[in-house]
Amino acid sequence: MTLSPTHIIDKGDGDEPLSNHSENRHFSEVLEVSLKRRSVLKGGIAASVAAMFGGVGFTQAAAAAGARKSLIGFQAVPVSDADTVLVPKGYKVQTLIPWGTPITGNLPPFDPLKNTGEDQAQQVGSHHDGMHFFPIEGKDPYRGSSTEGLLVVNHEYIEPRYMHASAIGQKLSRDAVPALIDGKRPADECRKEINAHGVSIVHIKKGADGQWAVVNSKFNRRITGATPMVFSGPVRGSDLVKTKYSPDGTRTRGTLNNCAHGVTPWNTYVTAEENWAGYFINRVSPAARPREQSRYGVNHNESRPASSRYGWELADSGADEFVRFDVSAKGADASQDYRNEANGFGWMVEIDPFDPNSTPIKRTALGRFAHEGLIFHPAVEGKPVVCYSGDDARDEYIYKFVSKGVFRKAAGKANGALLDEGTLYVAKFNDDGTGEWLPLVFGQGPLSQTPAAAGDDACRTCFKDQADVLVNTRLAADLLGATKMDRPEWGAIDPKTGQVYFTLTNNSERTVADKANPRPKNRWGHIIRWSEAGNDPAATRFTWDIFLLSGPEDDSLFAGKPLDKDQIHNSPDGLWFDRDGRLWIQTDSSESVLNKGDYAQFGNNQMLCADPRTGELKRFLVGPLGQEITGVITTPDGKTMFVNVQHPGASTSAEDFAAGKLTGTWPNMGPYARSATLVITKVDGGVIGT
Ligand code: FEO
Ligand code: CA
Ligand code: CA
Repeated sequence: MTLSPTHIIDKGDGDEPLSNHSENRHFSEVLEVSLKRRSVLKGGIAASVAAMFGGVGFTQAAAAAGARKSLIGFQAVPVSDADTVLVPKGYKVQTLIPWGTPITGNLPPFDPLKNTGEDQAQQVGSHHDGMHFFPIEGKDPYRGSSTEGLLVVNHEYIEPRYMHASAIGQKLSRDAVPALIDGKRPADECRKEINAHGVSIVHIKKGADGQWAVVNSKFNRRITGATPMVFSGPVRGSDLVKTKYSPDGTRTRGTLNNCAHGVTPWNTYVTAEENWAGYFINRVSPAARPREQSRYGVNHNESRPASSRYGWELADSGADEFVRFDVSAKGADASQDYRNEANGFGWMVEIDPFDPNSTPIKRTALGRFAHEGLIFHPAVEGKPVVCYSGDDARDEYIYKFVSKGVFRKAAGKANGALLDEGTLYVAKFNDDGTGEWLPLVFGQGPLSQTPAAAGDDACRTCFKDQADVLVNTRLAADLLGATKMDRPEWGAIDPKTGQVYFTLTNNSERTVADKANPRPKNRWGHIIRWSEAGNDPAATRFTWDIFLLSGPEDDSLFAGKPLDKDQIHNSPDGLWFDRDGRLWIQTDSSESVLNKGDYAQFGNNQMLCADPRTGELKRFLVGPLGQEITGVITTPDGKTMFVNVQHPGASTSAEDFAAGKLTGTWPNMGPYARSATLVITKVDGGVIGT
């Protein structure tokens, strides 16, 4: 047995690597041209952007503000670096379903040092993220009970050092796994980690005392990184997804790195597969790796040990469920190995929370990339279904899907098939404030050439069919000339105007600014928004502007002014409009910079509330140490809000972990910090935010 630090697998923060080396112009280059002509005003880029946009959207806002009551009635909370949750005066918080809460099967009690892989499959997963509250009636995702429902929660990733007794005393950073033993990992540690990923479906109910609790229910379910799933849409049956497990390319196992989500108009949940590339390893030389891996960053860092992010392929049992994470070509053809396993990830996965026996469906027509989430326009009878998804990696794109068929309420869950056929578009933001949706359709424009016609089997810019375009969505979008964005995260649609908002969290790699991504080395992030032409969600043109430039008081802009002490924040990520039109903004400043240097002024990650019509913005909540705030939804009456705290305690250093010294132990329910859901109510029983 060897326990050498050199055998510790530590892949850093797990974010998607920069893998877009196309020549497409940064949105920022476009802006730079105009910025260069202006003298740099006091306040730098923020002031320049203010001059360009002139506070677009806020002139009508001011008029409207006078006409009606403010949507925001609470007093802002200050920034904080305490290991606790802060909410405004008059609000209270309950902690619900922390990682490891037993929900199904034998209901194994939580014990992070003793629980097995099988136990974890019966408990709530780790690293809570996107989430929805489905009222228990099961008819409409936004109407019905406000005291009982199914809380469906994504689990983005894990922190292995907090999961295994073997980790105690080792120098492990937040992404590292315990030292390898003869080059292998104990299989049950790998199984436990796989089972801590995925989605939890939890039946919850409000008691007479006002406290929410888990109901022992047939609906409670864990979907994990190993749950059998099927492909639907153009990629189903394609050669590109044939594996030893599914030689006909119709099935795969598991969903991974589930970040944000979507809620379909037919009352199902869609979970997004975001930073999945790192979970795989290809042992062939970089030049020999297929484009469907290299353009997504599989093995992006050659200096790291030759294993995947958590080294599951090194499980000492050598079982097929683990071997599949090694995507090197080893057999005679794809049906003999897992060369195509990574092609089964990067999709949106539809789940029916009200049918515990349903098989999750990977909806391939929505494209393959680092999906952050999926945001639907409200469905209209007889019209196509329209939804958006951001590709969260530096310099990647924003996409929109328009179904070919039309929505029929009476069809119920059969409407899911609408996500199998339609047009996937990618956004191009022009420097004059207009934009275009460019179709990713095989046979159209630059997506017309086949390898056969080119006489080149290895042709990087050729496609065989629509399945090939979809598996290589990023490459197809490069060829169309899409605009490189500053890490597109969540989107939200204003229920009052139909305008679409998207967070662009930050982009340390941007060298040249453009209009939609106006800051080079964008440290603080911003929020962009657009209106579809003619207010038709299916339109192929739009107009856009910048809603908010995040940052400190001397480098930010909102409603024509710099942010004040009640508003400063950085790295906007989660985004959601409530039914009244309040915009909730959640931050994900990396744990590597939290409370350090220039970032110290922002404190811990937080959630703010904006009223786009009045230009108000106030900090509503600050989370504990080391975490990010992500995922937000209310009950239909707006009186109970659920918010997730992800990766508390992540800023504990490797040295401190080895010494048993923890930076952050919230919610103080066990030896280590645990991701959990906050249940927020008003003491007076009112609507959250008022
Ligand atoms: Fe998982 Fe893009 O945040
Ligand atoms: Ca996120
Ligand atoms: Ca993020």
